Amino acid sequence: MTANPFLDAARVRHDLYADAGRITQRTSALARAKTAGPHPAAVIADLAASGLHGTVLDIGCGRGTTTVALAERLSPPRLIAFDQSAALLAEAEGRLAGHTGVEIMRGDFHAIALPNSSVAVTTAAFCLYHSPRPATVIAEIARCLAPGGLSITVTKSADSYRALDEVIAAGGLDPEATSRPSLYETFHSHNQADIVATCLDVQQVIHHEHRFRFTDADHIAAYVATNPKYQLPYDAIEIAQRLRETVGDGPLETTSTVTYVVAARR
Ligand SMILES: C[S@@+](CC[C@H](N)C(=O)[O-])C[C@H]1O[C@@H](n2cnc3c(N)ncnc32)[C@H](O)[C@@H]1O
Repeated sequence: MTANPFLDAARVRHDLYADAGRITQRTSALARAKTAGPHPAAVIADLAASGLHGTVLDIGCGRGTTTVALAERLSPPRLIAFDQSAALLAEAEGRLAGHTGVEIMRGDFHAIALPNSSVAVTTAAFCLYHSPRPATVIAEIARCLAPGGLSITVTKSADSYRALDEVIAAGGLDPEATSRPSLYETFHSHNQADIVATCLDVQQVIHHEHRFRFTDADHIAAYVATNPKYQLPYDAIEIAQRLRETVGDGPLETTSTVTYVVAARR
C-alpha cells in the first residue's frame, strides 16, 4: 500500500469506488456541511459553454454529477461519461436517462480509447489526483481534443479540510492524521496549472474558497469514516462517541479551495 491511498490503484478500484455507497456518504456529509462556495458542476458547465459545439468528454465522471450539468446546460450532440468504475458508471447512466447523445465509456484515463482530435470539450473534475502521473492524462486530453478544443480540469487545495485532520489527531483517534501527505498531492490547486501547461495553453485559473461547518460529532464522524486519509478502526458511531469524549460535540469549521483550470489545445 502506498502512503497516499488516493494513489493506490487497487484501493481506488476495489475499495473507494467499487460501489456508490462510500462516495455517496462522503459527498452527502460534505454537502450538508457546506456554507459557502458555488456548486462545481454548475461552474464547470458555465465554463464549458464557451467551448466549441461538438463531442463533450467527462473524464472520471463518477456518479455523473458534472455530466448531468453538462447535458442540461450544453445539450451536446455526443456526451461521453468516462470512468473506470462500472458501479459509478451504472449510476451515472441512470441519472442521464432521458438525455440524448449520451455514451457510457469504461476505461483508464491514462489511455483514452478515442481517436485523435475527436473531442470539442473535455472536463476532468476531482479525479486527476488519483494519478501518480497526471501529466500523462493531460497529454491524452490534448491528443483527443480537436483544434480549438477546450479542457477544464478541477481539483482541490492540498490543505483541504485541515481542521478535520487536527480534530482527529487531537482526539487521539489517529495521531498521525496531521502528518500524512495530502490526498491531493499529485494534482492540487497550486500545481494544476503547471501540469496542464505541459501540453495545453492555459487560459484561465479560477480559485473559489469553499467553507464547511460540521454541526456535531455525528456529522464529523459520517464524513471522516469514509475518508481513506485516516486510519480509523471504528465505525461512525464509535468515532462520534470518541470525539464527544475527547474534543467535545463540535461544531467544526473548515475550508477547501476548489481550483478550475481552463485550457485550449495548442
Ligand atoms: C471523486 S470521484 C469524481 C467524480 C466526478 N468527476 C464528480 O465531480 O462528481 C473520482 C472518480 O475518478 C475515477 N477514477 C479514478 N482513477 C481513474 C482512472 N485511472 N481512470 C478513470 N477513472 C478513474 C473514479 O472511479 C471516480 O469515479
